[in-house]
Amino acid sequence: MKINRDSKVVVLTGAGISAESGIKTFRDADGLWENHAIEEVATPYAWQANPQLVWQFYQARRRQLLEVEPNMAHQALVKLEEFLGDNFLLITQNVDDLHGRAGSKNLIHMHGELRVLRCESCNEVFDYMEPEHLGADYVACENCASERLRPHIVWFHEMPLKMPEIYAAVEDCDIFITIGTSGHVYPAAGLIDIAKQSGALCIGVNLDHPLNLAQHDDFLLGRAGEILPKLVAEMID
Ligand code: APR
Ligand code: ZN
Repeated sequence: MKINRDSKVVVLTGAGISAESGIKTFRDADGLWENHAIEEVATPYAWQANPQLVWQFYQARRRQLLEVEPNMAHQALVKLEEFLGDNFLLITQNVDDLHGRAGSKNLIHMHGELRVLRCESCNEVFDYMEPEHLGADYVACENCASERLRPHIVWFHEMPLKMPEIYAAVEDCDIFITIGTSGHVYPAAGLIDIAKQSGALCIGVNLDHPLNLAQHDDFLLGRAGEILPKLVAEMID
């Protein structure tokens, strides 16, 4: 399907787009994420009850970013953005930095970012990826007296970031593409319903059927790294 430069395209990505870069998805291994139940490490209660466990878990995820590279799927989305300019928005549920490193610019991290730490006292955020930020010790806030920054991650029971901006773009788009997301987690999984109600063509790319399969007009089953370069070429070449 060919598009022109006036087409408004919104893309929603999930863990599946980074799988081929070597980052594990959340729900592919019996609901375990790197051997932890998600609730054990990804809730504000876990951070309160067992901050050491949560901190060590996220420090390992943060260090992993130094060992992985963007793949063909991330790169294909950069190509699509180069063609569409401001008519392109990438919304990712991923907390890795692979979209940004590939070169995506118009990018919203709705579930936060591993690179970033946040102060719960003064709310300041810090992009901290130097060796002194990646060890076992907590990292202190430079802005106030707090000794312990937290991961800038949207945990379960917390509000995703930038939702007004996301809803506005999804309501206004012509084409909505979901990539590598299982459709389990709301509000991300429901964005397709808004896109559809607003008349957008909804395309899905995933290795297996997502829960919201039925809402897609067109669904491509397979690996994002193989499908995306072809899909983008069809759209813009
Ligand atoms: N190409 C395309 N899809 C893939 C690939 C691949 N190479 N590998 C795996 N997938 C698919 C899986 O089949 C699965 O449907 O990616 C999907 C990943 O689903 P989840 O692991 O549930 O990840 P996601 O949908 O991003 O999870 C949403 O849940 O815990 C949270 O906050 C976390 O942002 C995350 C949210
Ligand atoms: Zn502070």
